[in-house]
Amino acid sequence: MSPTKPPILQIEDVRLTFRTREGAIRALNGASLTIHEGEAVGLVGESGSGKSTLARAVLGLNPERSSRIEAGRILMAGRDVTWLSQGEWEGERGHPVAMVFQDPLSFLNPIMRIGRQIAESIERHTPQRRVAERVGELLELVKLPSSLARAYPHELSGGMRQRALLAVALACEPRLLVADEPTTALDVTTQAEILALLRDLRERLGMAMLLITHDLGIVASACERLYVIYAGRVLEWGRTQNVFAAPAHPYTVGLFHAARADRDAKGRFATIGGEPPDLGEPAQGCPFAPRCPKAMTECVRSMPDATVLDQGESHAVRCWLYPQPGDAASASGRVVGG
Ligand SMILES: Nc1ncnc2c1ncn2[C@@H]1O[C@H](COP(=O)(O)OP(=O)(O)OP(=O)(O)O)[C@@H](O)[C@H]1O
Ligand SMILES: [Mg+2]
Repeated sequence: MSPTKPPILQIEDVRLTFRTREGAIRALNGASLTIHEGEAVGLVGESGSGKSTLARAVLGLNPERSSRIEAGRILMAGRDVTWLSQGEWEGERGHPVAMVFQDPLSFLNPIMRIGRQIAESIERHTPQRRVAERVGELLELVKLPSSLARAYPHELSGGMRQRALLAVALACEPRLLVADEPTTALDVTTQAEILALLRDLRERLGMAMLLITHDLGIVASACERLYVIYAGRVLEWGRTQNVFAAPAHPYTVGLFHAARADRDAKGRFATIGGEPPDLGEPAQGCPFAPRCPKAMTECVRSMPDATVLDQGESHAVRCWLYPQPGDAASASGRVVGG
């Protein structure tokens, strides 16, 4: 990678509000995230923390009438795409970014054969290619038999549908694939197959990936870096191995603890105690403060800057427990994006 090449994705301090009957909801409250070419990045956080909203914002997929980006910018390979209209996005979609979702059926057309859907995606984005041949190549790439080109989505198993959706996405030859819980609906064996396929595709195509998941094990095995989001704010980020070795924010610690804990007597997964945040009234300070076992007075008053925790400057946290830039006691207090 040349040092001057801009990141494939740069999300800077984005604030996004949904208008609902109950009032405005600040789903993203100053979220920042960077992905370099070819890099696999994980995004983790509790349900409702803003993961899908962030992913959809990248592709302009949040509902145009009820959502608004109030501040911040989204740069794709250096180009500002924050204000692209829905119509402009139609031309852009899948190039250089494509998205796959938890539920492929919501994206695949139920009354169109799989091969035709892949062909349409090719024709929209790379019309110069010999389409039928390319459909065959894409099916082979996602390890589906060519005979499935004639099948309809409902005739496929969940794993096959996810592969078919991947083929539609890859038809655009994306440089970044955004995968929102791509394996959550699948059984464990199929999950492992799809993850192996994603890894293989990334290696072969040199494609970057933003992987959204509840499953920290998946992040550990599939992602080089990760971001931890809560109430629309990124609270910690860094190289996966560093964050796993020494999670810094009490929220991250809580997430990791919940992931390791056994299920309770009713079979439910462990969660962090306390109420989820009220996005209708965004906190002045750290949004996790009301649930944080280590909260101090400062935490409720204002959000701290980011503290870099390692020499490589890859691991950073926004938490008052760590020295702030400018603190006399701060050894490494430098402000970085986050
Ligand atoms: N179209 C919408 N209209 C109104 N509110 C929305 C809309 N989409 C999401 N939200 C709200 O925005 C917040 C963030 O939701 P989002 O779907 O991004 O969370 P998430 O982290 O993806 O959660 P999950 O893990 O359950 O998928 C939630 O409070 C949600 O209710
Ligand atoms: Mg989601």
